[in-house]
Amino acid sequence: MAENFLPINGTDFVEFYVGNAKQAAFYYQTAFGFQPLAYSGLETGDKNKTSYVLRQGKVVFVLTTALTPDSEIGEHCKQHGDGVKYVALWVDDATHSFNETVKRGAKPYRKPTKYSDENGEVVISGIHTYGETVHLFVERKNYKGIFLPGFREWKPDYKTTDVGLKFIDHMVGNVDWGQMDVWAKFYHDVMGFEQLVSFDDKDISTEYSALMSKVMANDNMRIKFPINEPAKGKKKSQIEEYIDFYKGAGVQHVALATSDIIHTVSELRKRGVEFLYVPDTYYKTVSDRVGSIKEDLKVLQSLNILIDRDDEGYLLQIFTKPIEDRPTVFYEIIQREGALSFGKGNFKALFESIEREQESRGTL
Ligand code: FE2
Repeated sequence: MAENFLPINGTDFVEFYVGNAKQAAFYYQTAFGFQPLAYSGLETGDKNKTSYVLRQGKVVFVLTTALTPDSEIGEHCKQHGDGVKYVALWVDDATHSFNETVKRGAKPYRKPTKYSDENGEVVISGIHTYGETVHLFVERKNYKGIFLPGFREWKPDYKTTDVGLKFIDHMVGNVDWGQMDVWAKFYHDVMGFEQLVSFDDKDISTEYSALMSKVMANDNMRIKFPINEPAKGKKKSQIEEYIDFYKGAGVQHVALATSDIIHTVSELRKRGVEFLYVPDTYYKTVSDRVGSIKEDLKVLQSLNILIDRDDEGYLLQIFTKPIEDRPTVFYEIIQREGALSFGKGNFKALFESIEREQESRGTL
């Protein structure tokens, strides 16, 4: 086997450009149980933007907003609404990662750049991916600070408890018609990822809505990027709706892993997080499809948690409604009990549920 030219240790952070980072940070703390970690803004000498860094388990989110009208951040928000700008990958050598991917056709975003303070040095480089989304390569082996140079510790008096979210299981990109293969090829050729699975429109369709998806993963499986494109249905698919409102390709959902989905979802619901509704009829037939599981089906039904099984085991998952006013980015909460797949058996049930939501917005 050829040597991996892009070793990745895991996701470093996900950075969102948002309209109001202060309020978004409050939402992620209060509703999702993220813990405050770091801050940068006027008080740290940044006159153009403010960023709040939050953490839960290994998941690090950065919420960034513009302080001036004529900024790339403000323009991003105007175009896309709140959305993911950076999917940052943790590597041992950001220069090597940049050179190897650019050599293979990546469009450079940021040449390897050193950032330092009294805690050491970080090297960050970046390449473009679908839409206006960027992959940063973050090399932090010579850094001991709280997050990155330019940030200071953020310790508000306000405290919430976490909800048991552990790490990012996968992050899904929505791309436009005919673009799935283009981006699957990009992850293969440029980043050395392999295709795990693919679904065509026959797998994932209802009467009205359809999508196609390919899951690309790196060699240690810590990075899994399903790529979706719309497929023809009688009415508009949810991928198309996303593209319409996001004004192009972008991150559709971030799947967050828990080892106790009943606890996590109970807690999230208590705090006001809204999830997609699953019809009771789903639970009438689910046992025939997935066999026996250790969780109480009645409890799963009361929380609207979905169940799927593959050759390796089963998984429990649930999807939030979009977390901003545009029907774009949402979250998945997932608990894996051996299963390595992504809930294909749930897509139909899920789609029917999403369509009920679309119908109520008049966009189906
Ligand atoms: Fe997912």
